[in-house]
Amino acid sequence: MTTPAGRIGAPDRLAGKTALVTGAAGAIGTAVVHRLSAAGVNLLVCGRDRDRLEHLANQTGALPFVADLTDAGACRSAVAAAEHRFGRLDLVHLGVGTRGDCRDIAEFELSAYRRVVAANVDSVVFSLEASVPALRRAGGGAITVSSSLAGVTGYGQFPLYSMTKAAVNGLVRATSQRLARSNIYLAALCPSFVDKPLLGDFRSHLEQKGIPLLAPAEVADALVQRLCAPPGDEPIWTLQPGHPPVPHPCPAISPPAPIHGRPLGGRSGADRR
Ligand SMILES: NC(=O)c1ccc[n+]([C@@H]2O[C@H](COP(=O)([O-])OP(=O)(O)OC[C@H]3O[C@@H](n4cnc5c(N)ncnc54)[C@H](OP(=O)(O)O)[C@@H]3O)[C@@H](O)[C@H]2O)c1
Repeated sequence: MTTPAGRIGAPDRLAGKTALVTGAAGAIGTAVVHRLSAAGVNLLVCGRDRDRLEHLANQTGALPFVADLTDAGACRSAVAAAEHRFGRLDLVHLGVGTRGDCRDIAEFELSAYRRVVAANVDSVVFSLEASVPALRRAGGGAITVSSSLAGVTGYGQFPLYSMTKAAVNGLVRATSQRLARSNIYLAALCPSFVDKPLLGDFRSHLEQKGIPLLAPAEVADALVQRLCAPPGDEPIWTLQPGHPPVPHPCPAISPPAPIHGRPLGGRSGADRR
């Protein structure tokens, strides 16, 4: 079966594609990089920590790109480096993120708020701005974003984190249909808590509450599955331990109420996208 240019059909068809991964040295990012490397994908891996990136690059043959991706120029440079080195860009995984430590909406440092918004929202917006033209030049491709279940359910311990992930979900839902017309699939995966060394004391808090944890490799599998999905597929997916990824479709919206008994004209939500 042939697919349109740039279209990814199945994991075994990833070989020879080029991917850019941000947050690559993080727990989930590292697992994604190993999966893609094993599938024969050319990789540009991005992050701020040179040592961790170079270690990952040595393990996987990826090209390291050290940058703060809350900067729009840095995002454009990363995409340019991938195209320069590999000639094209087909796949993007956006994994930059931080939980921050803002727990009480009445008590937080402005600088901490700015850091969470910069990492979780700015980096996604700027990375999309930079990478979408490259994917269009390649004839299409796929982009995944590491969002969070907190962006769907809200998580009272981390209200600002939840806000940023809800923002990402809104952006992905609002953008995915337009990108599908360019043969690009855009998805946000919303995992529950992931087991990683950086959890620290929070791990015992979760254990006490009986909250099971996902392994980074499980999240990576779901992300790679999304990177293989066709344009137009469901954009928002949740992932919880012991369950396969589940699409999170937009609830049905009621038709607009009539004004003075006259039905409102206008286009449907889907038409407006
Ligand atoms: N862990 C969970 O329970 C969980 C659950 C659901 C969703 N998520 C989301 O999944 C993503 C990855 O999570 P994770 O657990 O793998 O986190 P992690 O281990 O802390 O990794 C996050 C990565 O983001 C990078 N990063 C942060 N700010 C950056 C910046 N300004 N510029 C460039 N890189 C930056 C870090 O790079 P440096 O190496 O340079 O610090 C780090 O590699 C995040 O978006 C997170 O919100 C996590």
